[in-house]
Amino acid sequence: MAIPKTSRIKPKSRSPIFLLTASISIISILYLLSSLISSSSSTGSDPLETPISRFKTNILHRTDTEKFLYWGNRIDCPGKHCESCAGLGHQESSLRCALEEAIFLQRTFVMPSRMCINPIHNNKGILHHSDNVTSEQRWAASSCAMDSLYDLDLISNTIPVILDNSKTWFQVMSTSMKLGSRGVAPVEGVSRADLKERSQYSKILLINRTASHLSWFMECKDRNNRTAVLLPHSFLPSMAAKKLRDAAEKIMALLGDYDAIHVRRGDILKTRKDRFGVARTLHPHLDRDTQPRFILCRIAKWVPPGRTLFIASNERTPNFFSPLAARYMLAYSSNYSRILDPVVENNYQLFMIERLILAGAKTYIKTYKETDTDLSLTDDPKKNTKIWQEPVYTKQGCS
Ligand SMILES: *[C@@H]1O[C@H](CO)[C@@H](O)[C@H](O)[C@H]1NC(C)=O
Ligand SMILES: *[C@@H]1O[C@H](CO)[C@@H](O)[C@H](O)[C@H]1NC(C)=O
Ligand SMILES: *[C@@H]1O[C@H](CO)[C@@H](O)[C@H](O)[C@H]1NC(C)=O
Ligand SMILES: *[C@@H]1O[C@H](CO)[C@@H](O)[C@H](O)[C@H]1NC(C)=O
Repeated sequence: MAIPKTSRIKPKSRSPIFLLTASISIISILYLLSSLISSSSSTGSDPLETPISRFKTNILHRTDTEKFLYWGNRIDCPGKHCESCAGLGHQESSLRCALEEAIFLQRTFVMPSRMCINPIHNNKGILHHSDNVTSEQRWAASSCAMDSLYDLDLISNTIPVILDNSKTWFQVMSTSMKLGSRGVAPVEGVSRADLKERSQYSKILLINRTASHLSWFMECKDRNNRTAVLLPHSFLPSMAAKKLRDAAEKIMALLGDYDAIHVRRGDILKTRKDRFGVARTLHPHLDRDTQPRFILCRIAKWVPPGRTLFIASNERTPNFFSPLAARYMLAYSSNYSRILDPVVENNYQLFMIERLILAGAKTYIKTYKETDTDLSLTDDPKKNTKIWQEPVYTKQGCS
């Protein structure tokens, strides 16, 4: 099976979350004891200087190494807040960046317990407009639990993570407050390298990167430096929650030997009028290249007739892809609603399942080419944020 695996990274034999929880509970008990002793014997206010805590650091060497990185309680798009975010893939690039920092600093990452979902990507569970809805209720309806998307134990095999609603996190916060300047320090504007190497930061229990509400992307500047990238793009997609992976496996078993295309249309086809009233787009060939007859023409050299072709798309026009049935046996996630309906609560979960199915195909054709070896439906670049061009609808050689 071709689901990307993070084979380069060796799993640990025991759940770091378990070890962490265990060691932190012990520490907090010792802290309680030590603060009782120090307040009754008045041997100084610093709990680290009491005999009992010296004892503690000897028996619990793990507490010397377990340090935490916190990036705030939300996962936005790079450069944008959730409400204007184009989807899970964008939020994942922020999350991957935070996880890479945790790897670099060798710290346990404090993961937001919920991920916001842009309302346009969530057709279930949205509250109707009402002034009476509290902001907490709105957040609950426009976000989903992180562990309903990802398998946190699986992620922890590579980077230890804890959730920001876990007991462990509340214990870390209370410990960090007691430690004062050794517990937590302002790190705004401090580089990754300094956080790692300068002892005033490297020894701190908790690094709080929440310098501003924009911090989710402020620290990701190194993205274009290939040597600074520590996790492949396939990392988070392959960390899907177990029930999502199970659903994908069942569907893949039913599909058997199949190929797949991911056809992005919808929001990315949007045009805007220039000052002469001419429609312009960031992807001039995309609308054309994602039409069925152009898809047939483009993929003929990669997908032989008669193959089963799994189509993942945000195109909502019924039967839009039917012309492809002339050559292929078409399958969509809607063919498997019996498997999906009990599992899928929002479009992010559906997308995670679809990504696993796409990645498991014998031949997978993406919308855009992202790496040199990718097959793609269009030659337009994925990233073009500036040049608006007139859409093109003709092509030589395809009828
Ligand atoms: C809003 O909520 C309050 C208390 O929950 C209730 O008394 C009130 O009738 C509600 N108003 C509307 C417009 O639903
Ligand atoms: C992290 O920093 C932010 C912004 O300064 C602050 O609001 C938040 O309470 C801090 N959290 C912790 C756990 O220190
Ligand atoms: C790229 O990242 C590496 C490793 O973090 C660093 O040593 C190097 O200086 C960076 N190069 C540039 C051009 O920023
Ligand atoms: C999927 O459903 C469509 C009708 O919506 C049908 O034409 C097609 O044969 C189904 N594909 C599979 C693999 O069952």
